[in-house]
Amino acid sequence: MFAREELLRVGYVPDRDRIIGRDDEIRAVGKALGPAVRGGPPRNLLLYGKTGTGKSLVSKHMAREAGGRASDNGVDLIYQYVDCSNDDTETRAARELALGVRDTLDPDLSIPRKGIGAAEYFRHVWDLLDDHEVRSLIVILDEIDKLDGDDDILMTLSRAEESGKTDSYVGIIAISNKIQYRESIGERVDSSLQDREFVFHPYDATQLRQILENRRDAFQPDVLSADVIPKVAALAAREHGDARKAIDILRYAGAIAEESDSTQVLEQHIDHAMERAEADRFAELISGSTPHVKYILVALASLTIRRDEEEFAKQDIYSTYKQVCANEGSDPISWDRVSRLLKEQSFLGITESRHTGGGYEKGSYRVHSLNRDPEIVLKALDSRSDL
Ligand SMILES: Nc1ncnc2c1ncn2[C@@H]1O[C@H](COP(=O)(O)OP(=O)(O)OP(=O)(O)O)[C@@H](O)[C@H]1O
Ligand SMILES: [Mg+2]
Repeated sequence: MFAREELLRVGYVPDRDRIIGRDDEIRAVGKALGPAVRGGPPRNLLLYGKTGTGKSLVSKHMAREAGGRASDNGVDLIYQYVDCSNDDTETRAARELALGVRDTLDPDLSIPRKGIGAAEYFRHVWDLLDDHEVRSLIVILDEIDKLDGDDDILMTLSRAEESGKTDSYVGIIAISNKIQYRESIGERVDSSLQDREFVFHPYDATQLRQILENRRDAFQPDVLSADVIPKVAALAAREHGDARKAIDILRYAGAIAEESDSTQVLEQHIDHAMERAEADRFAELISGSTPHVKYILVALASLTIRRDEEEFAKQDIYSTYKQVCANEGSDPISWDRVSRLLKEQSFLGITESRHTGGGYEKGSYRVHSLNRDPEIVLKALDSRSDL
């Protein structure tokens, strides 16, 4: 089925001619980085937009491009990508930055992975930049809204040159898919990022179709039947305009066709693929949850299906949860703790809860519901070996 499956993986950064419908965005990032390519100070940028709209891709692509062009001009420009969803504290993000810069400039230099704080990691960065007479450092801070606490890292980076920490220019590309992030960043930081924001919009069906067409060579020749790409593009455009999801669906359709011993990917494989892509997202969301969180979700999903109702009170959830625990050979935790875990899940948007209006003799009590398709939840949880 597949010839080059890696073309359908998320981390893959396609060449310029495979990046579709982001000309304005590329131009905006290019404009911010342009001065740095010629040896001047880069401008900071704040990129917004829903998930799967090409923010990470365009930033990585443009940073790489800027590095190449700068070196053609005899300018020493380096860049570092920091994923703040993995490095969700300032120290971790600073460490990631320091280790990345180290790997680019002086791989043999030893920098401790533990026991030092953000300030010291930053000092390593400034020393490295100055020792190697780097003209500009571009830092991509992806998913910056995931960073705990305040905006110290933005402050430190945006003031580095001005405050004499380093002689190099430091440019920031901050990325977020939360529009509220704009309002939440402090005023001081704001002024240095001001007027430099750019919004990435969801893709339409035509763009998604081209994005998928450009990855057709992930498959063996002729295995994609003619209607597959248009159908995936249309479905994805209608639901979200998310390129990542569209690509995921195509990859799953291929995998499902393969599993069912079909020689071609057909339209009928797509529905199944959409379901699997959704289950995948859900699994990602709850990965790292404790087994009891999973038991609670299984209980809620089973109740939803079995009773064909949506909302359940404490007694129902807890007794079903205890059954799930018994099946799993695990001791149940107290209702109070279950209730706390439910609260966390509702914070993540996986479940919801509300007070009923109560009524004569009944009083008001809390009911909980699952915010996802219960079949998908069960499937996602079943497929996990720890359940
Ligand atoms: N214009 C495009 N052309 C080709 N492929 C694209 C394009 N936009 C996005 N993709 C692909 O879609 C996937 C998602 O894109 P990307 O990771 O850049 O989205 P994002 O905006 O950063 O989303 P998130 O906010 O969830 O991080 C990647 O595999 C990427 O290669
Ligand atoms: Mg991204």
